Amino acid sequence: MMLPSFSNSDHHLPKKSNTLELRNSTFSLIKSLFSLKNCAWIVLTILTQLLIVVFLNRASLWPSTLPAIQDNFQAPPHEKDCEFGTVYVYDLPPVLNKELIENCQDLDPWPWSSKYCSAVSNGGFGPSATGLDGIVPENLVPAWYWTEMYAAEVIYHERILSYKCRTRNLDEATAFYIPFYVGLAVGKYLWFNHTAKDRDRHSLIMLNWVKDQPSWKRTNGSDHFIMLGRLTWDFRRLHDSDTEWGTSFIYMPLMKNVLHLTVERSQWDELEFSVPYPTAFHPRSQSDIQQWQSFIRARKRSSLFCFVGATRKSFKNDFRGLLMNYCKNESDSCRLVDCSVTHCYDGAPVILKTFLDSDFCLQPKGDGFTRRSTFDCMLFGAIPVYFWEGSFKDQYQWHLPGAAEAYSVFIDNNGVRNGTDIRSVLERYSREEVNKMRETIIDFMPKFLYSSSNADLGSVKDAFDIAMDGVLRRFMEQKRPASDKEVNT
Ligand SMILES: *[C@@H]1O[C@H](CO)[C@@H](O)[C@H](O)[C@H]1NC(C)=O
Ligand SMILES: *[C@@H]1O[C@H](CO)[C@@H](O)[C@H](O)[C@H]1NC(C)=O
Ligand SMILES: *[C@@H]1O[C@H](CO)[C@@H](O)[C@H](O)[C@H]1NC(C)=O
Ligand SMILES: *[C@@H]1O[C@H](CO)[C@@H](O)[C@H](O)[C@H]1NC(C)=O
Repeated sequence: MMLPSFSNSDHHLPKKSNTLELRNSTFSLIKSLFSLKNCAWIVLTILTQLLIVVFLNRASLWPSTLPAIQDNFQAPPHEKDCEFGTVYVYDLPPVLNKELIENCQDLDPWPWSSKYCSAVSNGGFGPSATGLDGIVPENLVPAWYWTEMYAAEVIYHERILSYKCRTRNLDEATAFYIPFYVGLAVGKYLWFNHTAKDRDRHSLIMLNWVKDQPSWKRTNGSDHFIMLGRLTWDFRRLHDSDTEWGTSFIYMPLMKNVLHLTVERSQWDELEFSVPYPTAFHPRSQSDIQQWQSFIRARKRSSLFCFVGATRKSFKNDFRGLLMNYCKNESDSCRLVDCSVTHCYDGAPVILKTFLDSDFCLQPKGDGFTRRSTFDCMLFGAIPVYFWEGSFKDQYQWHLPGAAEAYSVFIDNNGVRNGTDIRSVLERYSREEVNKMRETIIDFMPKFLYSSSNADLGSVKDAFDIAMDGVLRRFMEQKRPASDKEVNT
């Protein structure tokens, strides 16, 4: 389920140096936009999406098998491969993870839809993808799943249980992972007239449990981390008001030192790091990756650019609506997938084919500044075109190149509203420049893929490996005495 988007009128975000008060007032502004009382359109949006979900669930034969997250880790860590240290994985009370999965039919705010049961199947990858024959190479089809964009909590847990730098020894761990599915836990309570208490319940159970662990007491949680599967804004409720959006998890006092990974980070939170949204491709081996890279490199593309999305009619001046009209009018060079007509939910072959046939893809803001669609687009070798700086600035710092212009195009949304012609901007890139940007994407592609947990990628690191390196490196830095740090900087 999507959450209601920020207003499309351009709100002004404070700069990093600004004070907490300013930050809070901005959040209040954002939160007030979410207020259920004030926003009848949210209900309309939800009902529309609901109909799509119902239709999909009726129409599909998705298996509802439960994921087999099993702790069968045996091998001791290879010390020499773990240059940044090792991770200890807590065995939490099942109500915080296992039972959420077992009772997946209750995760959904709409009990007659079983979407989440398929979404959390296959270790968080979701149901096997169908309808891809003739779109992706035949032998790669089994590596594709209709993965839900908010499934990362389950995926990270699954991966970390067999992670090569996992330790069973509390005393030697560099990092402590809290496998709490907070996004899944709160998902059901985000809408309707649930209370702030409902939205915080699981978070409080977790913090009450973890604060009594000896390993927590040693550091007050400063070597602990957690994965947040939804956008960070869902965990930043400021007041104990039942009409305010989200849980206050991140602002709970015990969370003060805990590092969090999320699919979209707040640029003002130094303990938060963004990691790629999961896409549909989960390679089983290094050769799966290489074959895919060659496939998209060799692809002949028939459209200059494409746009996949739905308009939000309830917004005045909706930028997506503007892009959609523009794309329709430029049908010689733009391919459009209108998600209010096509069912785009979590994966549709027509979307994949559209990216595969385009050089560029338009990526306006989604529910937040970032979109899963950007990763889908790059996965197919298309070059993202951003319209907000927040879509790439200070995001995915461990996973994507700092120089965004090496793999993407930025056209300010105000410029577009003012008459900047998107097609003319994109046509200015020569064939060589386009190929070079695509090569950059192909090159870093493994860094935004989530391989299957038993995959042997050789020396290649995927999104999960990079994230773990980032966390461990950060905790090692933190542990080193100050004098040591100065020498090295
Ligand atoms: C709102 O709360 C009331 C009282 O608890 C309940 O009867 C009603 O079904 C709730 N409405 C929705 C839409 O959940
Ligand atoms: C942890 O927090 C408690 C309470 O604030 C404090 O008394 C204690 O010194 C802290 N311990 C460490 C290791 O920082
Ligand atoms: C549609 O495209 C034509 C030709 O490129 C252009 O002259 C016209 O202004 C466009 N109309 C809109 C509404 O963008
Ligand atoms: C839009 O156009 C107006 C008038 O030409 C100009 O003053 C303004 O700076 C432009 N805004 C942007 C964001 O380009």
